[in-house]
Amino acid sequence: MTDNIHNATLEWDEEGQPISAVFGDVYFSKANGLEETRHVFLHHNQLPERFTALKDTQHFTVGETGFGSGLNFLAAWNLWLTTAPKSAQLHFVSVEKYPLNKTDLTRAMSLWPELENLSNQLIDRYPTFVGNGFHRLKFLDGRIILTLIIDDAAEGFTKLLASTHPLFKNASTKFDAWFLDGFAPSKNPQMWSDDLFSCIKALSKPDTTAATFSAAAIVKNGLKAAGFSVQKVAGFGRKREMVKALFTAEPEALNPDDFSYRGSFSPYPVPWTIAKNQTVFTNKHALIIGGGLAGCHSARALAERGWQVKIIERHSELAQEGSGNPQGVLYAKLSPMEEAQAAFNLTSLQYALNFYRPLWEKIGDNCGVLQLAYKKSEAELHEQLKNRFSNADQLVKFLNATQASDLAGINISQTGLFFPQAGWIDPRKLCAHLVDHPNIQINYDFQVREIHCIENNWQVFSEAGAIENSSVVIIATAKDTMHFEQANHLPIKSIRGQVTYFPQTENTPVLKTVVCAEGYIGPAQDGIYCTGATFNLKDSEAALRSNDHQTNLDNLRENLPEFDVMRSDNLQGRVAFRCSLPDYLPCVGGLPIVDKLVEDFAPLRKNARAGITTAGSYWPGLYINIGHGARGLAYTPLCAELLASQINDEPIPLERELANALNPARFVIRDLTRNKR
Ligand SMILES: Cc1cc2nc3c(=O)[nH]c(=O)nc-3n(C[C@H](O)[C@H](O)[C@H](O)COP(=O)(O)OP(=O)(O)OC[C@H]3O[C@@H](n4cnc5c(N)ncnc54)[C@H](O)[C@@H]3O)c2cc1C
Ligand SMILES: C[S@@+](CC[C@H](N)C(=O)[O-])C[C@H]1O[C@@H](n2cnc3c(N)ncnc32)[C@H](O)[C@@H]1O
Repeated sequence: MTDNIHNATLEWDEEGQPISAVFGDVYFSKANGLEETRHVFLHHNQLPERFTALKDTQHFTVGETGFGSGLNFLAAWNLWLTTAPKSAQLHFVSVEKYPLNKTDLTRAMSLWPELENLSNQLIDRYPTFVGNGFHRLKFLDGRIILTLIIDDAAEGFTKLLASTHPLFKNASTKFDAWFLDGFAPSKNPQMWSDDLFSCIKALSKPDTTAATFSAAAIVKNGLKAAGFSVQKVAGFGRKREMVKALFTAEPEALNPDDFSYRGSFSPYPVPWTIAKNQTVFTNKHALIIGGGLAGCHSARALAERGWQVKIIERHSELAQEGSGNPQGVLYAKLSPMEEAQAAFNLTSLQYALNFYRPLWEKIGDNCGVLQLAYKKSEAELHEQLKNRFSNADQLVKFLNATQASDLAGINISQTGLFFPQAGWIDPRKLCAHLVDHPNIQINYDFQVREIHCIENNWQVFSEAGAIENSSVVIIATAKDTMHFEQANHLPIKSIRGQVTYFPQTENTPVLKTVVCAEGYIGPAQDGIYCTGATFNLKDSEAALRSNDHQTNLDNLRENLPEFDVMRSDNLQGRVAFRCSLPDYLPCVGGLPIVDKLVEDFAPLRKNARAGITTAGSYWPGLYINIGHGARGLAYTPLCAELLASQINDEPIPLERELANALNPARFVIRDLTRNKR
């Protein structure tokens, strides 16, 4: 991630068509942009025929250089609706270095009234860009999945590769078709780089096609070097020629010995994140253990991909543990830094805001979230954020105390950050909404005792002797994951939290937004305020504590003195346990076979960049989605999407390095490099 993004600078010609002021080139043909797109990119990738031939629940992946005004994306989406099966998914992955701002996008889209229904949906979800990064937007219940990567084309696609290690590049998820757009090579030679074509090669497979409006030598030669056979065909309108291409390269036979730098610093990444014998699941059936936010989001993400999912839950209802509070705040801490935690927080918050956008009425209230600069370190942090987020008003606004007071409807003496699209969510209602899908079933009152794998089939045993089977199992049991033998190596922390409820009366103010300081409070729900929460590590007391109510009320009064609520002995509340990992990042992905990982990666004990050429050992079909700490509402949508993309062999929704930072094997690898295993 870097902060230096530049929005496109546009000029509009006399017909109202956009032209890049920087590159001096058009975004699409002046004759008819939509027809050009259909001719060049849709027709010459044979998309009408290929979409029609897809089977139920299959997906198809298009990669594009230069998202521009989104015309190609909308044209592909439009074609998909009339040709592909209803249960299939279109992945459209586009890398754009100079994104249009929303006003320009809206103006450009207005040129295509026949696509208005689709363009309105795109405009509504179009993200706020803060530095380079990934934005995944889903439309029509996941039938259309756009991954918009703000970056240079070569850099952006590199971030999708399984690894940059030459031996493992080929393990990358493959694309079906390429739209090689981008301004003409004569005006933008930098984009059409060797690195870009090398990425395209790693992301292509037999049958992958490519089409481009250009017939320049740099494009033809690049495609040939990337393993495509290239054909010149008639271009659109007055353009004489364009290029279409088919991937025909034989797989390269590389010798692992050439990459094993024994004892010295290897220039290649250590391939512990790559799974040996990656499984492709033909039978799309999964069991998910745990019916909280992580389990329900995971179920929904798979169900929308046509998977039959069964959630196994020990209670007789969903969301009875960590996800059982009546009000949770959708919130993630922003940072001026660019380390994994900061990047993950921002990506997951933006994904979550988009995910919940159509659901607010059902699940909570998008009344906005105000984060107060309630202590010196927080005020300093807010100052530091200004540089990075000052142009991201739709995501976060910087407020003075008067503005904060007006928005919250209560006297506030501090400055603050305001997230206008966020709010509070009732996680129980959210879980109920997520599982409301014909592909999801729930098996309640099933306390899983243990799981075993027999010939790639997982058997899940209950305490009462019942058994469920599946080739794919996702463990989403938060802190109780430590009871599973396959996961008990994880350094899971359980953190007790208590919230306090009190009634809204004539003596309490009427709050209009969520306010977060030491704790948080949202507008009253059904006449009851909920505030909290306490944080206690190594504390398994499940009963409510009077002292903890006092702590919550003291924290509230300190920052919002109008809430002068007295403790009384009959205060209500709730206790639950958060699940966290030492690096405060969730744990999402395949579970490693620890003994084998330790054996294969033993050289890391002496050299953290040893030239190991063996991939990691992971349990076939066993995945995990835990460790959402105090941020389950923001983290679980993206984590579920990541997991479903990994399981279904699709492009992932965030950059590879971040997916690696969430990888459950990271703790074993860290221990090895610290010589602790
Ligand atoms: C007091 C408190 C306040 C919070 N406030 C917020 C907030 O404001 N905003 C926010 O984003 N997050 C908040 N969180 C965090 C958020 O609630 C969690 O991150 C989230 O609920 C985690 O969801 P989960 O699905 O991972 O875990 P859980 O909701 O705990 O789900 C795990 C599920 O697994 C089931 N299970 C476990 N073991 C087994 C087994 N062996 N067999 C069958 N089923 C099993 C459990 O019954 C449970 O249903 C808060 C947490 C607490 C405790
Ligand atoms: C012709 S326009 C693309 C039109 C677009 N596909 C559409 O449907 O509207 C070319 C796009 O490539 C983008 N671009 C230029 N150089 C780039 C680079 N190095 N990496 C990624 N995108 C780039 C431009 O900003 C511009 O949006």
